[in-house]
Amino acid sequence: MNNFRSISQIIEPQLAVEGAGVLLRRSVSPRASNEHDPFLLFDHFAFNNPLEGPLRGFPMHPHRGIETVTYILDGSVNHRDSLGNSGTIGPGDVQWMTSGRGILHEEMPRRGESGNIYGFQLWVNLPAAQKMSQPRYQEVNSSTIPVIQKDGATIRLVAGELDGIRGPVTEIAAAPLYMDVKLDPASRFVYPVPSGHTVLAYVFEGAGEFGNEVVESVSMVVFNDDGGHIEVKTETGARFMLIAGAPFKEPIVPYGPFVMNTVEEIQQTIAELRNGTFIQ
Ligand code: FE2
Repeated sequence: MNNFRSISQIIEPQLAVEGAGVLLRRSVSPRASNEHDPFLLFDHFAFNNPLEGPLRGFPMHPHRGIETVTYILDGSVNHRDSLGNSGTIGPGDVQWMTSGRGILHEEMPRRGESGNIYGFQLWVNLPAAQKMSQPRYQEVNSSTIPVIQKDGATIRLVAGELDGIRGPVTEIAAAPLYMDVKLDPASRFVYPVPSGHTVLAYVFEGAGEFGNEVVESVSMVVFNDDGGHIEVKTETGARFMLIAGAPFKEPIVPYGPFVMNTVEEIQQTIAELRNGTFIQ
């Protein structure tokens, strides 16, 4: 198919407070309706400027049944977890964390030289067969993310493929595409996407025409499954995260930081947290 996908929805992010009081913009949140399958959540951190006072973060909390993907553009996030892992996600870095059966972790933002923190967290679902797998991290340093320049586009490829180049994040169940696309003024971007895959674009700078509809930042664009490519045209320039993946088409039961397939699995998770067997 060479035709271009149209848009089904433009979502305006809503302010939400998470963790110990972090103000963020949320455009996708976990729901049983699972309308963006396999994607569960998309948060944008852009509010921790020095005028807002002390920095707040995400103290120790559990996850089960999902993957959390943190991409930082400014500032950094210090993290540590119940398995003994720790580190810093700095500007341009990605942490792709597959929680599997469970971790407890802490995520604490730090301001960069500019005084700001800017980044995104995406949650990707796991299929039922992998929800209780061993936890796994892919820590991606900024310097190892391919930067591809093409027809006025500058693309940082985190996961997926472009012109035979593969992003450093691999072996993810949803076969995801995750890339940061910056378009020069007066440019056009076309990218092939597999039929049946869910495609989202989070527009965070500038404006453009996505599937022939004008979209201004900051907005989450949801594409229909009606074409083999996505097309973006811009006069002023634009920057967006392009997100695509294969849906699992399984029932889900989201409960806070857990996403399982049945209510019983959520009850079991809560029981394990209470009796101390959640972490193995
Ligand atoms: Fe977390």
